[in-house]
Amino acid sequence: MDMLGLSCYVCLRFGRSDMAMNWIGFGSVYLLTGLFVGGLRSCNGGISSSYSRSNDISDDMPLSSDVFAVPPGYNAPQQVHITQGDHEGRGVIVSWVTPNEPGSSKVIYWAENTELKKHAYNTKYFYKVGTRDATRQFWFTTPPEVGPDVPYTFGLIGDLGQTFDSNRTLTHYESNPAKGQTVLFVGDLSYADKYPLHDNNRWDSWGRFVERNVAYQPWIWSAGNHEIDFLPEYGEGEPFKPYTHRYFVPYEASGSTSPLWYSIKRASAYVIVMSSYSAYGVSTPQYKWLMKELPKVNRSETPWLIVVMHCPLYSTYAHHYMEGETMRVMYEQYFVKYKVDVIFSGHVHAYERTERVSNIAYNIENGLCAPRNDEFAPVYITIGDGGNQEGLLYEMVDPKPKYSAFREPSYGHATFEIKNRTTAYYAWHCNQDGYSVEADSLWFHNLYWKSSSVVASF
Ligand SMILES: [Fe+2]
Repeated sequence: MDMLGLSCYVCLRFGRSDMAMNWIGFGSVYLLTGLFVGGLRSCNGGISSSYSRSNDISDDMPLSSDVFAVPPGYNAPQQVHITQGDHEGRGVIVSWVTPNEPGSSKVIYWAENTELKKHAYNTKYFYKVGTRDATRQFWFTTPPEVGPDVPYTFGLIGDLGQTFDSNRTLTHYESNPAKGQTVLFVGDLSYADKYPLHDNNRWDSWGRFVERNVAYQPWIWSAGNHEIDFLPEYGEGEPFKPYTHRYFVPYEASGSTSPLWYSIKRASAYVIVMSSYSAYGVSTPQYKWLMKELPKVNRSETPWLIVVMHCPLYSTYAHHYMEGETMRVMYEQYFVKYKVDVIFSGHVHAYERTERVSNIAYNIENGLCAPRNDEFAPVYITIGDGGNQEGLLYEMVDPKPKYSAFREPSYGHATFEIKNRTTAYYAWHCNQDGYSVEADSLWFHNLYWKSSSVVASF
């Protein structure tokens, strides 16, 4: 269970005017035309795709694969990855591993145009890690300043693993013309725990595999069950140890006491990350944190309220069916009350999107115990189809429940393109399709702004 590498991380931050300090920020601009199309698409009772793929389970790529190549040079930094470093998007955490000995923890960074040093938002930065002949250079662009009408595109990837299908998923995401700027990762990263003793070599190889993207754009992490890595019989009694030691998140900036649940603002979105595998009942730290968190979200500043959690609250696949039910019973009422726009999950190795439904009307006497249409409830999207070694799930609840709008067991990823405070465009892409093909899509109307009288004057 010991990590084979030695990890470093540096949190870079920027103030609005003190860019000469050892702090920077980041941002990126992606201008999208604002289109406005009426409400949720009518789904005619929903779709179970007729697409059928071969039932093969994909093997992990061998360690000799080029995607796992160790960078040249003694003790060269590897597994370089970035994520947001604070609550507002003015910081970035840069992490890497040195394989031979503790290396320099210094990050050298500079703006693409040094004349623009004081413009910390929407700026391309280059950065270097490592020393001498083992120095490696990358870049990222900093997000736009937080604001209600800032266009921004998130990618959605889940349950990725490190198979040949995982590689196809990442390539499709990189080649998607929608050009995601930040990935919301819905949990289950490396699947290293599928190996004897939860072989951390496979954590290392996964880090080298995804570096080609996550060194250049932030991935916002959430923990899945394959991050638990609980192995007390071998002396590893600390859950989530490899994950939390390798993938740092800015949880303290949102008042959280655990890296497993936290929030960030990014552009026009407020993203809440929750932990399906940490205590969440009344009076638990996660519960208390969320109860403080939801009322704090200012939809005039960040109109889009997005929740990420690994285990879906609604899924109509047979495998893992209703595993999220206790979490749903605990929290769905608050997600509806606070008008969460969309909840992204993984865990189920397939794709599914629900209608806007809720199941909160029930009390012990009224018999209202089935999901019903609710225009102010979140859309639930399961995007656990990254391509890990466990393969796809095919068995579905039949007949298809009405609350399921679209479901298909294919590998892929999705994008969520925020246009402005009222409108966002969502699309799911399958690996078997061309890069620009959308297998499922939906125009989102922001739940807060579509219900606010303010919208009339906007
Ligand atoms: Fe999972």
